[in-house]
Amino acid sequence: MTRMAEGIEFRLTVPSLQISLGEKIALIGHSGCGKSTLLDILAMILQPTSAGAFRFRPEKEAPPIDVVKAWSQNDLNFMGDLRKHRIGYVMQTGGLLPYLTVRDNINLSRQLLGMPDDGTVEELAKNLDIARHLNKHPDLLSTGERQRVAIGRALAHHPSIVIADEPTASLDPIAARKIMALFIALAEELNITVIIASHDWKHIKQLGLRRLAHRTTQNSAGTVTETKVTG
Ligand SMILES: Nc1ncnc2c1ncn2[C@@H]1O[C@H](COP(=O)(O)OP(=O)(O)OP(=O)(O)O)[C@@H](O)[C@H]1O
Ligand SMILES: [Mg+2]
Repeated sequence: MTRMAEGIEFRLTVPSLQISLGEKIALIGHSGCGKSTLLDILAMILQPTSAGAFRFRPEKEAPPIDVVKAWSQNDLNFMGDLRKHRIGYVMQTGGLLPYLTVRDNINLSRQLLGMPDDGTVEELAKNLDIARHLNKHPDLLSTGERQRVAIGRALAHHPSIVIADEPTASLDPIAARKIMALFIALAEELNITVIIASHDWKHIKQLGLRRLAHRTTQNSAGTVTETKVTG
């Protein structure tokens, strides 16, 4: 993947990367090393400049989906459906819809998929300790509460994989660790694969995540940065 802005080039290369179903993976690295870029590609939000192979098996028994082929065919409906059903995303900035209540924010993906009102939202809210806020709008919540809503929203439709981009970045370390632990425990309980970008390797390690190896290099003029990720 090549990103170019104002004569500064950023390249992300992924020679090989395999993530097993139910695995929990961490992407740790300094600001600008390409974490969000990689997560956006894995979430199929961002199409890489070129791709050799990218296969996604959403369930154990399901045949793998050829994502490169879908990209090359520019099959936006297929990609959209795949994302909607199979992927949960916790954005770096939260990304809650301000005009929806907490309940409706968490329920959003379920509603889009026509899933029944079976108490999943309420149970998630209880587990995330935000049940009392269900009828409020996000702007009346604290940052940590909002982050918990975003986590609930990413899990509510039982995706195969949940991708979280520094989901606790704007919290103090104690609150961040508490929410991260809760998030990992919930994903584990639901048997959802997790890929998470974070700065806090110490804690992420305690939670038992596998860290992806990456190497960032820069040319002498500082105009080209390249990150290579393997794992
Ligand atoms: N839309 C874009 N167009 C061009 N370059 C971009 C774009 N978005 C990001 N970049 C560049 O790509 C590189 C990687 O950015 P990315 O957002 O993936 O980093 P990051 O590791 O997530 O950083 P942070 O920890 O600050 O969130 C940076 O050098 C950034 O300037
Ligand atoms: Mg980022």
